[in-house]
Amino acid sequence: MARLSVNVDHVATLRQARGIDEPDPVWAAVLAEKAGAHGIIAHLREDRRHVQDRDLAVLRQVVKGRLNMEMAATEEMLRIAGELAPDIATLVPERRQELTTEGGLDVKGNQEHIKQAVARLNDAGIEASLFIDPEPEQIKAAHLCGAQVVELHTGSYANARGPSAVARHLGALDDAARLAARLGLRVAAGHGLNLVNVEPLLKVPEIEEYSIGHSIVARAVFVGFEQAVAEMLALVKTALTQRPSEPPRRRL
Ligand code: PXP
Repeated sequence: MARLSVNVDHVATLRQARGIDEPDPVWAAVLAEKAGAHGIIAHLREDRRHVQDRDLAVLRQVVKGRLNMEMAATEEMLRIAGELAPDIATLVPERRQELTTEGGLDVKGNQEHIKQAVARLNDAGIEASLFIDPEPEQIKAAHLCGAQVVELHTGSYANARGPSAVARHLGALDDAARLAARLGLRVAAGHGLNLVNVEPLLKVPEIEEYSIGHSIVARAVFVGFEQAVAEMLALVKTALTQRPSEPPRRRL
């Protein structure tokens, strides 16, 4: 059975937009696990634009399934991961200007650095996953770096328009998943997946885990909006009935 890991970054993004303490990504993680999610993912970015150090520390205490810390392979993040001890860390490229993680990690071009980062994670008892584009060269490089998992970047597939482009990207993911599994790597997939475009990917038997964030948070807004308004309305109505009756108006 395939697994779902829920990325809670997007809840933190909403919180940071207001600079207050809600919505709390930790609360989202608790609800995700209550709904049956197998794991929770949070990306601690160098600029701390969404997830904060405190979030990961609390997540480490409350998450019952697997906690996946997404991070750049920097000295700072490797130190934090070593202290935090997530079950698994996913190494991603990070650029300051990007809206979200925009491409896969260039493992082939940075093999020595990534190999050392993987070794440091493994020495700390943390599994290493590499977020890569579905390209044979990157998969072979990930294998040579000693990673346990590759997470295939599904962004190009999710953004593809038209049946032939979709089929081409799906084919690349399928081939990549097979190659990775043949090399003994476990395979995950994520980025831009939603209730519609995840379906064909569910048929790729090598993909063990789907990592999904934005579409779940986006949908939660709509499946929860009516209830949130109804709750507030019920409260407002109660307040109206509890208000002391208005004093009679004086006649002029
Ligand atoms: N996997 C990785 C490595 C990511 O960087 C992201 C985005 O935070 C995701 C999965 C989830 O992507 P999305 O939010 O589009 O579902």
